[in-house]
Amino acid sequence: MNKRSLIYTLALLGCCAGPLPASAAPDGAALFQQTCAACHGADGTGIPGLAPPLANPELWSTLGPQAPRYLAQVMTGGLSGTITSAGVTYSALVMPPQSQISAADLALISGYVLGTLNGGKLYPSQAEIEDARAQPLPRSELRQWRNGKKP
Ligand code: HEC
Repeated sequence: MNKRSLIYTLALLGCCAGPLPASAAPDGAALFQQTCAACHGADGTGIPGLAPPLANPELWSTLGPQAPRYLAQVMTGGLSGTITSAGVTYSALVMPPQSQISAADLALISGYVLGTLNGGKLYPSQAEIEDARAQPLPRSELRQWRNGKKP
């Protein structure tokens, strides 16, 4: 390809690369159904014996301004060990790291979880999710953190 047609091709790509049309763009609710609902329930209220509720304003308000970081860490690094949520103990299943999903899609899911399901206003950005992927905290620290002892 000569220089001119290369520039032409790049210009064409530039012109057409952009956001997907709204109908095709994945939104947080749809991504949640595809990715999280099998374990956490279609409405995020959890499945006792399997996975805890994500619609749990008490948890997120305990975490306060650290809620976005906790969510980013759990989604990217997973969680294991015993936790108690809304009076139910969960220890049977390990939450696997959601490594098959892009940080951009996890950011959309976060907006759905913290905003739609919990009425919150703070969500992790794509960059914060990338940071969590690059610098995972030990799961023991995440468990302590959710129980009110911040790292
Ligand atoms: C294979 C099943 C599975 C999938 C898929 C899954 N999770 Fe989980 N998740 C779990 C389990 C099990 C736990 C509890 C782990 C424990 O007991 O330590 C958990 C815990 C969590 C917690 C911590 C809740 C708390 O009370 O501290 C969050 C937040 C969470 N998951 C978010 C998500 C999101 C968001 C998705 C989708 C991107 C997702 N999970 C996908 C099984 C799953």
